[in-house]
Amino acid sequence: EKGGFRSFMDKEIHDQPHAVADTLLGRTDATGRLVLDEMRIDESVLRAVDKIVVVACGTAAYAGHVAKYAIEHWCRIPVEVELAHEFRYRDPVVNERTLVVAVSQSGETMDTLMAVRHAKEQGATTLAIVNTHGSTIPRESDAALYTHAGPEIAVASTKAFLAQITAAYLLGLYLAQLRGNKFADEIALVLDELREIPDKIQQVLDRAGRVREIARWMVDTQSVLFLGRHVGYPVAMEGALKLKELAYIHAEGFAAGELKHGPIALIEPGQPVFVVVPSPRGRDSLHSKIVSNIQEIRARGARTLVIAEEGDEAVRPFADEVFTVPQTSTLLAPLLTVVPLQIFACELATAKGLDVDQPRNLAKSVTVE
Ligand code: M6R
Repeated sequence: EKGGFRSFMDKEIHDQPHAVADTLLGRTDATGRLVLDEMRIDESVLRAVDKIVVVACGTAAYAGHVAKYAIEHWCRIPVEVELAHEFRYRDPVVNERTLVVAVSQSGETMDTLMAVRHAKEQGATTLAIVNTHGSTIPRESDAALYTHAGPEIAVASTKAFLAQITAAYLLGLYLAQLRGNKFADEIALVLDELREIPDKIQQVLDRAGRVREIARWMVDTQSVLFLGRHVGYPVAMEGALKLKELAYIHAEGFAAGELKHGPIALIEPGQPVFVVVPSPRGRDSLHSKIVSNIQEIRARGARTLVIAEEGDEAVRPFADEVFTVPQTSTLLAPLLTVVPLQIFACELATAKGLDVDQPRNLAKSVTVE
């Protein structure tokens, strides 16, 4: 059932082009307008929403972070992302005009379910972005937007993460369409670009030989840092989480702008640092800022492992290794840039002889608080 792969995780990483393509399938009508059939929420309610709160845990919460950047940009609605277990135990400002979006692969995560219940009690509208049909979170939510990643067996989430990000983009584009804002004309262009993503993920998979090789050399590494800015920041945190849970290596993801506020003190000669670089064709300042971050850590001896867009020559002089991904717009890039990090963690853990499908102390779905 592993389809010739060494592990379910390896297989699921390779399933990602399908997970994204299937999640995009059948979402537009004959005129190209987005139709999210499962969204059983009245359009007038969605038009009146003045705040979105994404609640989730772990990897699903990082998908929520990406969603925040995209939805705020496209819809101009404020989006907060909160770990579900924190949301519930404070006194969050949530009311009838709040849309609470619960993101979950299993649909059974107790912390996330309790957050949904709390949101409903406050009168919020609740929407579940979930992979598992018939699970509890979509059943208790006002509406569901299903990801079509197929069953995810490995404890570490990979293809569900990409499908969650894809579904979150669809939600953002749908809300922009519904509210007819100034971005509405560009929706079709973003959808076209999204449809090209599965092929581009395949290209990243096809050229993963080098990242696998580096991972195998790094079996004795004690600590790896991950840096990103903008949507690269949640990608960095996800890269770190994958390495912790699979390879039991200390790993931390930082927003690159935070470096000089503390974490740069961690840099000593030989420290491996992955850096997720945004497209140089996007906002200029974003790219040049991260290039200077790479220079800063390189000057202090860091070993820089850079994930950058094809054709980005500016990063090369400061990178010990460059793993390239095909060109896409800045907001969609996480669907490509996270893939080498998943492969790195999976390969390194496998090389250490660890069971990547069943890491120690972890369960696939956490059904206790
Ligand atoms: O089933 P869920 O998406 O609600 O699960 C949330 C987290 O428990 C999950 O993403 C966890 O962080 C994974 N082990 C990450 O690989």
